[in-house]
Amino acid sequence: MAASERGGRLRIGPRARLGSAVSAAGADASHVGLDDVKHFGAHGADIVRALATASPRPLTDYRDLLDFGVGVGRVARVFKGFEGAYAGVDVDADNIAWVAERLPWVEAAKTEPGAALPFSDARFDAVISVSVFTHMNEQNQLFYLDELRRVTQPERSCS
Ligand SMILES: C[S@@+](CC[C@H](N)C(=O)[O-])C[C@H]1O[C@@H](n2cnc3c(N)ncnc32)[C@H](O)[C@@H]1O
Repeated sequence: MAASERGGRLRIGPRARLGSAVSAAGADASHVGLDDVKHFGAHGADIVRALATASPRPLTDYRDLLDFGVGVGRVARVFKGFEGAYAGVDVDADNIAWVAERLPWVEAAKTEPGAALPFSDARFDAVISVSVFTHMNEQNQLFYLDELRRVTQPERSCS
């Protein structure tokens, strides 16, 4: 964990950022059923552990990841220090503004509902999308599955 000096008090980086995540974007954190900092952090770690188990190769081998529906970075925050590129998109402007400001390793982009994603064909070697498709109707699910297929390299992963 990174620690930093601020106002003469030693603060543990991730915990301080998590506190901000839940308070600055509390509405979104509650969308995922969490209003406690510890639970938000623990869920992110659990999700990444499950992704690592399901992935056909180590997560660190990926070079270009897309987090579709990044929210306030429940998963993205765990990727601090990731050596590949990590893009996060969301239709919620507040969420994207928060991620862009607080998670500088994320290439954050606001997207428009029902519009093509702002990426070239086959850019990514894996896509992560947690608790996003469950919020869509079938028509949007089919549209975004096609879009995610377009921006992902053939035979690569979508979790
Ligand atoms: C329940 S939250 C999950 C956020 C994050 N994936 C997580 O696990 O914490 C759902 C997120 O999906 C975003 N979202 C919904 N529809 C979307 C779409 N069509 N394109 C991109 N993001 C979308 C919402 O704005 C919200 O941030």
